[in-house]
Amino acid sequence: MPAISFQNVGKTYSGAAFKALDDVSFDIQPGEFFGLLGPNGAGKTTLISILAGLARASSGTVKVLGHDVVSDYAAARMSLGIVPQELVFDPFFTVREALRIQGGYFGVKRGSKESEAWIDELLENLGLTDKANANMRQLSGGMKRRVLVAQALVHRPPVIVLDEPTAGVDVELRQTLWQFVARLNKEGHTVLLTTHYLEEAEALCSRIAMLKQGRVVALDRTSALLAGTASTMLRFKLDGPLPPQLAAQSRVTGRIVQVTAHDTHEVESILATLRNAGCHPEDLEIGRADLEDVFLEIMNGPPRLVSNMESAA
Ligand SMILES: Nc1ncnc2c1ncn2[C@@H]1O[C@H](COP(=O)(O)OP(=O)(O)OP(=O)(O)O)[C@@H](O)[C@H]1O
Ligand SMILES: [Mg+2]
Repeated sequence: MPAISFQNVGKTYSGAAFKALDDVSFDIQPGEFFGLLGPNGAGKTTLISILAGLARASSGTVKVLGHDVVSDYAAARMSLGIVPQELVFDPFFTVREALRIQGGYFGVKRGSKESEAWIDELLENLGLTDKANANMRQLSGGMKRRVLVAQALVHRPPVIVLDEPTAGVDVELRQTLWQFVARLNKEGHTVLLTTHYLEEAEALCSRIAMLKQGRVVALDRTSALLAGTASTMLRFKLDGPLPPQLAAQSRVTGRIVQVTAHDTHEVESILATLRNAGCHPEDLEIGRADLEDVFLEIMNGPPRLVSNMESAA
């Protein structure tokens, strides 16, 4: 039985002229670390809101461990730990109280030795131990996000859903957070992650779905996605303008230009194009393309469907 199953899910917000989700179908198997990627407005949070029972699908079905999120809501919700994208919290409680209260909603026995030990472990792993007795309103933005992560995990849900958990979180915590989530995944928890940090997705997720304007435009193992695109990347600094012939395959960040190539012939022809245009690239490096290149290629190109829809990691 899949951990999460989306079947033909559609969503049109009331009064909207467009479909926020359009016939989205895929399954996530138990134990997978699954990435859901897409640009702003692609429909990621909408899909997660439907999963969480916070929004109603206009069509289709969504199940968590076999429990329909509408007709069997309580069991579905109990199986999920959701870290929402928006910071929502109650300013009057301390961090520890907020975790106890959240646990209470999910039937965690308040004050039991076991539940307190788990709360301590969550605080420790999320770098919150010294804030345990601080009021929520006294925390910085990144610390509030850490508390949201802890709240989602307090009832030890088998399926963990993280909607941009690292937005606004500092480098050190990103690393400790990923170590912790990776450990939970190793212990058997299923993880569904959305992030705009594609190097995180590349490092962590064994399979990835990409959404564009509410549709699944790619769904495959991460390694297959990486293998299926332009494999080589030229990186250099350039002071003048880039020759227009290269614009479609280039990513420009200030002076830094990255150009994808499929093979060595293409590398040569890119260098020739630069030379013929009188460009003088500096600090030229040649390396492998990464998930960000794949993402841009898929978002700018035709849909890449779907080499192994059914097969999991
Ligand atoms: N409550 C709502 N009412 C109407 N439209 C909405 C609502 N929530 C989202 N939308 C619209 O649905 C589309 C998908 O939004 P969604 O929040 O799911 O995107 P997202 O992929 O999570 O984007 P981001 O990366 O910015 O978080 C957008 O066009 C958005 O404006
Ligand atoms: Mg979102």
